[in-house]
Amino acid sequence: MKKILVTGGLGFIGSHTVVELQKNGYNVVIIDNLSNSTLSVLDNITSITGTKPEFHNIDLHNKKAVQSFFKQNNINGIIHFAAYKAVGESMDNPLAYYENNLGSLVYLLQEMKEHKIDHFIFSSSCMAYGTPEKLPITEKTPTNKAASVYANTKQIGEEIIQDSCKAYNKNAIALRYFNPIGAHESAKIGELPNGVPQNLVPFITQTAAGIREQLLVFGNDYDTIDGTAIRDYIHVVDLANAHIVALERLFNKKNKANFELFNIGTGKGSTVLEVIEAFEKATGKTLNYKITERRSGDIQEIYADPTLANNELKWKPEKSLEQALFDAWQWQKKQS
Ligand code: UD1
Repeated sequence: MKKILVTGGLGFIGSHTVVELQKNGYNVVIIDNLSNSTLSVLDNITSITGTKPEFHNIDLHNKKAVQSFFKQNNINGIIHFAAYKAVGESMDNPLAYYENNLGSLVYLLQEMKEHKIDHFIFSSSCMAYGTPEKLPITEKTPTNKAASVYANTKQIGEEIIQDSCKAYNKNAIALRYFNPIGAHESAKIGELPNGVPQNLVPFITQTAAGIREQLLVFGNDYDTIDGTAIRDYIHVVDLANAHIVALERLFNKKNKANFELFNIGTGKGSTVLEVIEAFEKATGKTLNYKITERRSGDIQEIYADPTLANNELKWKPEKSLEQALFDAWQWQKKQS
């Protein structure tokens, strides 16, 4: 049984990926420092899959702790999620972001080299493209300057991985996610935003649950079908499965270069009002919302061309926007 290290395995995307890995017969070991997650997620994963993953509370930018972990564990592949991810905070405290997101990455790659681990999957973001000039975004779309420190840690992170793969003959895949939403169908794991949610879907579900009074729709003067901004929303379980097929591509030596990257999105953009409508349809709830000013830093429109992932990874999202919103709502109801 292959042993896969999942860093950040108690987080939103990490926890769903752990479940899918276990379902696919992998032995999972999680490293998480609980900075943006809770230990209860471990029990909830166990209750879904029937197997408790091994867990280590380790800070990945503690080099000694990382070294000692790899000395004691025989790892066959790494999926690396652990990172800070708040865009605004990254602008206020760039050094914390560079230290945490890039320091931990370098330590992991050093241990890969040291322990002859050959397979690495990196959690990246469509924000690594910068502001795109053309839509939909393919992997050939030129990378522009990152719009935030957070996005820059993803751009630089990919470069660090690419350089290391070349120099040490390792294999890695970076997955550039679009907007992950939803929750596991069991409603046992989902997104746990810290404080007031910044992202659309947790704000919608918290408003429907009465935790927030009203959703503010940021701008209806964009050049789109209804004036609201467009994103490519992907169900977190579909996204989790992309990690499994990417890992298997490496294990089966099907990769065409030491370092590859793939867009992971549905290929379909939805406006904010379309998301609200889909939520209302999927749940039967009426949402209290009003249109307000644009949010600073937001772009009008972004969505993926996922053809490369469809063809090369044989990966396709299976769950609809409505399903994702329904699952997010089932999860929310269990929180309040
Ligand atoms: C955000 C993050 C990005 C992350 C992505 C997916 C920022 C600047 N970017 O991008 O790092 O990868 O989520 O998790 O934070 N909206 C409202 N009202 C709200 C919240 C959002 O109208 O209360 C609108 C936004 O203006 C946007 C859309 O909903 O048009 C999606 O917003 P959000 O969920 O925050 O995602 P992104 O801005 O795409």
